[in-house]
Amino acid sequence: MKYYSIKKILNIKKIYKYKKNIFKLFGWIKTKRISKTGITFIDINDGTCLNNLQIILNSNNIKKYNKIIYQLHSGCSIKAKGYIKNNFINNNNELYATKFKILGKIKNPKKYPISPKYHSLTFLRTICHLRNRTKLFSAISRIRNSIIYYIHQFFQKKKYLLINTPIITSLDTEGYSNMFNIKYKDKKFFNHNTYLSVSGQLNLESCVCSLSKVYNISPVFRAENSNTNKHLSEFWMLETEIAYYKLNNIINLSKKLIKNILKKTLKNNYEDLLYVINFYNKNYNLDHIYNIINNKYIEIDYSEIINILKNENIFKKYNIKWGINISTEYEKFLTEKYFKNAIIIKNFPKNIKPFYMKINTDNLSVSSMDIILPNIGEIIGGSEREINIKILKKNIKYKKLDKLKYKWYIELRKYGNIQHSGFGLGIERIIMYITKINNIRDTIAFPRYPNNANF
Ligand code: 4AD
Ligand code: MG
Repeated sequence: MKYYSIKKILNIKKIYKYKKNIFKLFGWIKTKRISKTGITFIDINDGTCLNNLQIILNSNNIKKYNKIIYQLHSGCSIKAKGYIKNNFINNNNELYATKFKILGKIKNPKKYPISPKYHSLTFLRTICHLRNRTKLFSAISRIRNSIIYYIHQFFQKKKYLLINTPIITSLDTEGYSNMFNIKYKDKKFFNHNTYLSVSGQLNLESCVCSLSKVYNISPVFRAENSNTNKHLSEFWMLETEIAYYKLNNIINLSKKLIKNILKKTLKNNYEDLLYVINFYNKNYNLDHIYNIINNKYIEIDYSEIINILKNENIFKKYNIKWGINISTEYEKFLTEKYFKNAIIIKNFPKNIKPFYMKINTDNLSVSSMDIILPNIGEIIGGSEREINIKILKKNIKYKKLDKLKYKWYIELRKYGNIQHSGFGLGIERIIMYITKINNIRDTIAFPRYPNNANF
């Protein structure tokens, strides 16, 4: 007889359709209540949904009832068999156990770190191996799973090819040079310097020149020493490259993608989403999701952004001029105060963007875009790619990159060259946006950040 998931049991509407109303299940205890009348109620969960299932143990049915009930603790793993009844008071299905077994006890319950009381997020980060046992983190894990699934679905439906790009690389795609080194016993295993990849883009670009539309969802690694609430040292990125696409095409595709993820998560992960939003925000307000679904974006040139910032009194103390980076402080001001909307900034100066971006005819800016969301900041970065060999070589020199390493990349422009564009979306950042989680370290089961690679 197969085991039923708790989600399935809770969702059974017409119990008479099951010939023998007998179900088997397993899970972990969340709470228990022993009544003096020889009945014990336990709530259990198996990670398939937010709500717990109540199991009713009756001393008349359960062997060794009196011994078992005192071994029940939050965290115990159990299996049970029994029949289902609908509790008409709260309209929940409940399992009346006929057989019951404890699989894994909690040794020393007083020391078990995940008791049913409140735990701070900071504390939970120190026990990542156990934090998925909380309602909050199991909900976050399900939302994350769904978001990655919806992204695959979005691209697969459009017949994009998934390309698994390498994690070990010799190239610095973004030109940051804050990459993690790879060595084996202090030696160069690959005969030259290798690093953990900061992006799979250059490999995707090689594939787009024969496969037309490609994408990847992969972990990427950045050794920035930024201890902020929106940076991880290891994070996951969706990247895509599309042949013949221009800037406006990737802007439209990005907007569709974000809208699609938000809509699907809202529809299919509603309970988990509300639970997490309420945990962080103490309300069930979903405006931030509807705003994006209803396409409220401001599209604006970098130069115009600079003019806006220059005219703001609060920024008078800074030397704002064309060519500066749009810092988190400016992003916050623009999305939360000035426009009160998501913004898409276009045509950044070439000096602050990577070598591969296509230079505009003004020879100063690149055909690029960043999507900035309120409370999160940059969620997507993308551009048209430079396909003119001469200009590309000049950019590589201008950025002081080792041209020998980029030889294969330049070669793509020699053989069957094609205009193409692409972008990257930070998976953890979109999870933050949709759930209102305020620290990126809580969007992934085992976060890596400066001074922490535990678990
Ligand atoms: O803007 P980035 O650096 O772009 C690239 O890597 C390009 N190669 C993408 C492409 O065009 N194929 O990073 C893309 C996104 C950012 O917009 C942000 O959402 C996220 O990745 N991101 C981070 N997320 C978490 N922690 C970090 N340290 C991040 N750095 C960037
Ligand atoms: Mg960027």
